[in-house]
Amino acid sequence: MKALEGVKILDFTHVQSGPTCTQLLAWFGADVIKIERPGTGDITRGQLQDIPKVDSLYFTMLNHNKRSITLDTKNPKGKGVLERLIKHCDVLVENFGPGVLDRMGFPWETINELNPKMIVASIKGFGPGPYEDCKVYENVAQCTGGAASTTGFRDGPPLVTGAQIGDSGTGLHLALGIVTALYQRTHSGRGQRVTCAMQDGVLNLARVKLRDQQRLAHGPLKEYSQFGEGIPFGAAVPRAGNDSGGGQPGRILKCNGWEQDPDAYIYFITQAPVWEKICDLIGEPTWKTDPDYSSPQVRLPKLNAIFARIEQWTMTMTKFEVMDLCNAVDIPVGPILSMKELAEDQSLRATGTVVEIDHPTRGKYLSVGNPIKLSDSPSDVKRSPLLGEHTEEILSDVLGYDDQGIAELSDSGALGIPRQIAAE
Ligand code: COA
Repeated sequence: MKALEGVKILDFTHVQSGPTCTQLLAWFGADVIKIERPGTGDITRGQLQDIPKVDSLYFTMLNHNKRSITLDTKNPKGKGVLERLIKHCDVLVENFGPGVLDRMGFPWETINELNPKMIVASIKGFGPGPYEDCKVYENVAQCTGGAASTTGFRDGPPLVTGAQIGDSGTGLHLALGIVTALYQRTHSGRGQRVTCAMQDGVLNLARVKLRDQQRLAHGPLKEYSQFGEGIPFGAAVPRAGNDSGGGQPGRILKCNGWEQDPDAYIYFITQAPVWEKICDLIGEPTWKTDPDYSSPQVRLPKLNAIFARIEQWTMTMTKFEVMDLCNAVDIPVGPILSMKELAEDQSLRATGTVVEIDHPTRGKYLSVGNPIKLSDSPSDVKRSPLLGEHTEEILSDVLGYDDQGIAELSDSGALGIPRQIAAE
């Protein structure tokens, strides 16, 4: 049995943040019923399509293990179906723009009246305040949550990161809020609202930078390269290039082949406890006792020169050879792995973190499986549903509609026309 078996999720999510959350819950065994607008469905089905008229990888990689029902929730009969689904399910998850659920006629008070045990979980761009009515996408959240102002090089513009910390990061936060509320419900018997703002989620992930903002009041941030370079600090935490956020000096260094391969680099940390091992490895054994190099304090103003010397050494080997030599003596390093290398990595395949999925219209594709491993709740990754694939199944098996009821709903236009029924 899976951890969340028996939990029924009404999935009113779209794009990335909300679907990330409900996909995780589905992997843990929840029955996730995704409501989609007839005709188009989740907008990502058609975004960045690599194969014409086939659900995009954007959609298929974020909606595994779910069932899809098409329902026009602005149609009076559609509203009736939504009411029945609210009564049937444990959790409603949504990431509509601000006010959308209220305009649809389903504010929290109405949902709570229909089903007092229901947990209503929402992602918005901002929490209550001046920006609460704004729509928000990934990079807006990265910029407003403190990530962009602290990412990049000091002499360049702010940068966003390729990791989707605004969308997927907030989806993860919301999933934790939902299971916590489900746990509290086992004692209280009541539902509650769970809300997560993308700005808050990003700021939570950028926590160490708010730490540094406060440290600035007591002097320069000595582990930042600019300290060693004699460049004064301003009023706000600066961008620190590839310095490590943990207080240990670190850099990304070239490895053999960097001229042709944009990913032939390795992250190298001159962690104090392994300094002597580093000196031996790179061929500078006298630095172990030389008073100009032997302590972290005296090394700080010389970091550029020290890393240049280490790089002379890393450039003689591939990033994997550097990793092997360093790890043999417990020096942590991080080879820059490309998406191609990750896609082909056999150990990630073996653990189910990278999985190959078969899809009826797309064929085989790779996806990221459940990164959270439970020893007693296996995660099998099933393909995403076609638009409206489970409409009739949900209406009859979950809500008890008979053939005539389904026909009436269909005639009313509440269901639209399912694009295709998949052949299993
Ligand atoms: N039947 C009928 N109408 C439906 C429907 C259905 N099944 N599903 C959605 N709709 C309607 C809504 O009622 C809404 O109509 P309204 O504006 O007339 O009230 C409309 O679709 C649009 O919803 P909205 O969520 O505002 O979509 P959008 O495309 O304009 O904005 C976002 C997209 C992502 C910017 C916005 O949803 C948002 O800010 N979400 C919160 C933050 C977030 O999660 N952002 C990251 C997404 S990865």
